[in-house]
Amino acid sequence: MTHHGTQPRTLHIGMSLAPTWLGGDAWRRPDSGVEGLFGTDFYVDVARRSEAAKLDFVFRPDTLFLNTPALESGFGFASLDPTVLLAALARETSRIGLLSTVSTTFFPPYVLARQILSLHWITNGRAGWNIVTALEGHENFGLPAMPSPEERYERAAEFTELVRHLWESFPEEALALDREGGRYADPARIRPVDHRGRHFSVKGPLNLPSFGGAPIPLVQAGASAVGRDFAASVADAVFASTPDRDAAVDLRRDLRRLAEGHGRSADAVRLLPGLSLYLAGSRAEARELFAETHAGTQRARKLASIREMTGLDLSDWPEDRPVTAADLPPPPERPRSRTHAGLLRRLIEREGPALADLLQRPEVIGSAHWQVIGTVDDAVAAVRDWVEAGAIDGFIAVPGGSVGSMRLALEGLVPRLAEAGLFRRDYTATTFAGHLRE
Ligand SMILES: Cc1cc2nc3c(=O)[nH]c(=O)nc-3n(C[C@H](O)[C@H](O)[C@H](O)COP(=O)(O)O)c2cc1C
Repeated sequence: MTHHGTQPRTLHIGMSLAPTWLGGDAWRRPDSGVEGLFGTDFYVDVARRSEAAKLDFVFRPDTLFLNTPALESGFGFASLDPTVLLAALARETSRIGLLSTVSTTFFPPYVLARQILSLHWITNGRAGWNIVTALEGHENFGLPAMPSPEERYERAAEFTELVRHLWESFPEEALALDREGGRYADPARIRPVDHRGRHFSVKGPLNLPSFGGAPIPLVQAGASAVGRDFAASVADAVFASTPDRDAAVDLRRDLRRLAEGHGRSADAVRLLPGLSLYLAGSRAEARELFAETHAGTQRARKLASIREMTGLDLSDWPEDRPVTAADLPPPPERPRSRTHAGLLRRLIEREGPALADLLQRPEVIGSAHWQVIGTVDDAVAAVRDWVEAGAIDGFIAVPGGSVGSMRLALEGLVPRLAEAGLFRRDYTATTFAGHLRE
């Protein structure tokens, strides 16, 4: 494909290993495979299918707390540790990138640096780190409250710089492996770290050599002003919630501009929104799949979520009454996620949807992801439209509804994008960074 202005050469596509296709009531389907969630066969299957589709990476989001009330109706984020899980996929796959999520708010940098670099070694250069500052879980780490987003990002910036130093502190070139001379390594080539910052004090070096074959891609999620600036300073890609095309166009333009401000190329930071796909053989079936999946989602929970994000109590509102900008109280000072609260306000301000409609939107019932409910053709058209608008550099598939919908994403949509020249037909690289460079 030719390279028009801000349009990408080829899309970069990731696949969620969080089984989003078992979300809502979908886990209750007879073929959901939900019994396998805490084993490896379930994930090996998805990773192999993703590799057969030549995807850039599989991706595991993560949290470090258990939402106990939510367990009543679904597995939520109860899950295996993402880096341990991805290590189990290392020898079951050979080309696909493996993107783990680790929080800079709760982890010690030395441990993170060692775990991700270990994953990188055992996969021959296929590890990636999704940098999150987390939304909840402080009680599990001895913190009196969740630090403010500003504090979390300040810590994330120091954390990330420190991790990069640790990764370079024991260069692979220091290994001499000179059997004859009896010289294993050259200690003079080990670089001290001696980090003393506001949040961390780490002497270093890391007790693991760098992997010379390829850098470890960094991905970030969180789209407030400070989140964007942090992403633009270090990330190779941003995982984003962009429910409408304009949101993606704006975010991508902003990230590219900010990257240049940090002395990087605008192309260095790729925008990869989540793409929620409810796919079926016909539009009617897809709509049915979506309706069935969310039929059990409790109204009270949706209303509570709207109240938390906007301060608006809609419990007494008639279904057909539009919710408009004029109804919005001043934004709550500390919503759980500013990104998601902002996206919900944006929807209300732009569209003024009736309450019944609002309660079906991804901003309320999902993670505010871009969503296609329809056929593979519809999904191809949507991706093409967003590419042509300069809205994306790729996407992370978060299929919903059923195993069948997940398979249609990998075995229907992706091959069609490849046929259209929007995606690779085969791998040319063997590392995660190599795939992103294409
Ligand atoms: C699309 C998206 C995905 C996220 N995924 C995770 C995750 O898997 N684990 C986590 O702890 N936090 C996750 N977060 C939270 C962010 O890391 C961040 O802490 C939060 O969004 C606050 O930053 P903000 O004010 O820039 O939004 C995610 C945020 C967004 C927008």
